[in-house]
Amino acid sequence: MDYSTEKSKQLFQQAQRCLVGGLSSSFHKAAWSEYPIYMAYGKGSKVFDVDGNSYIDFLNAFGPNILGYVHPEVTMAVEAQLHKATLMAAPNEDLVKLAGKLVDIIPCADKVSAFMSSGSEANMHAIRVARAYTGKKKIVKIEGCYHGSMDEEKVSCDAQTIEELGDRENPNKIKHIKGQKDPEDIIIAMFNDLDNIEHIFKTQGHDIACIILEAVMANADPVYPKKGFLEGLRKLCDQYHVVLIFDEVITGFRLGLQGAQGYFGVTPDLATFGKAIGGGYPISCVVGREEVVSAATTGSGTFAANALCVAAALATIQVCEQPGFYEKLEAMSRKMADGIETICKKHGIKVTTRAIGGMWTLILGTDEELTDYRDHYKKADKKMYTKLVQGCMERGIRLNPWRGRNYMCAQSTEEDIAYTLNVIDELLGKIVSEQ
Ligand SMILES: Cc1ncc(COP(=O)(O)O)c(C=O)c1O
Repeated sequence: MDYSTEKSKQLFQQAQRCLVGGLSSSFHKAAWSEYPIYMAYGKGSKVFDVDGNSYIDFLNAFGPNILGYVHPEVTMAVEAQLHKATLMAAPNEDLVKLAGKLVDIIPCADKVSAFMSSGSEANMHAIRVARAYTGKKKIVKIEGCYHGSMDEEKVSCDAQTIEELGDRENPNKIKHIKGQKDPEDIIIAMFNDLDNIEHIFKTQGHDIACIILEAVMANADPVYPKKGFLEGLRKLCDQYHVVLIFDEVITGFRLGLQGAQGYFGVTPDLATFGKAIGGGYPISCVVGREEVVSAATTGSGTFAANALCVAAALATIQVCEQPGFYEKLEAMSRKMADGIETICKKHGIKVTTRAIGGMWTLILGTDEELTDYRDHYKKADKKMYTKLVQGCMERGIRLNPWRGRNYMCAQSTEEDIAYTLNVIDELLGKIVSEQ
């Protein structure tokens, strides 16, 4: 059967009459695509669209679906809670269990500071805690890291061209919209560059509350920390009394049970978790060192720590904790990454791949690791990646349409991987022959 998405096209036409840009989230439609694909339901490792097409899903809702779709244990826990209550404006017993688990699992977590519903809110709260603890107001943010949709978070994370970023020594602070609050309290630093960060701390440390970063810069065609970068950053933060915040919204419960901090063995002062922690349900949190988290009041929010999401998070973590869970995910991620390496070699395409826990990444066009955000404009072949994503979609495979960061889920199968590698082989062969 020919691939058709006619119903999605029609729905988008209807949506444009009542939704700005026809969308609720800009991420629901790839920039290169005329309309989004409307999904009807998900099951296991697959999603099914309104036209009856099915897709092996490696996007997994941009990360939350670590267990895949409608995982029985999470669904059962949510269903049980659904018949009791979703919101009671009060803590419940499960909340204490969940907080206890996080404290037991996450290296930096002496305590949970607060639960929220999204990663954006968690980062906003973490920055507030850092300011309350230090009494200082400036924030150092790494160019290219994405921390959410608030004005203070959405700076220098969505440049269209490398020129827009300005001079490396004096980078532009790129705003997302006209009229966005001036990022006067934000200082932009470079990933993997301790000299750059030390210079900032040396000259402005007396005013700096925190540095916030994704320990793996997953929002920029993944950039991995060089050996010693996170360790050096830890030392600099101690030296200049700057709170170190790891935004683990992507890496948390994705790279492994202890997130990036466990994987790289560097403990921040504060860390934020979202996405995978709730197994598809909206819950996030800020955790950290006792002395730091105690400096600020707890968070607030009508929907924060609601019983439904707490039940989902508890059930998700209980599955993730099972022996061998991350080893199995990583073995599948590795199989995919190694398979892509072999295919690219065969077709003479440069590539860098990585597999950590439930994340596998590919950057076409380069066999050198990216160092910072600017590198991905210089080295990554975005056009080739986009062609690959488009071809995969037509053959029933959904990859991340924005960047080469893709996810396995607990329900991904060996057949999913074998089929996907076959399709990638065929598509890359075709792309090369047409060049
Ligand atoms: C690293 C990181 N931090 C924070 C956020 C914001 O999370 P949310 O979309 O749940 O507000 C995202 C979202 O993609 C993210 O990737």
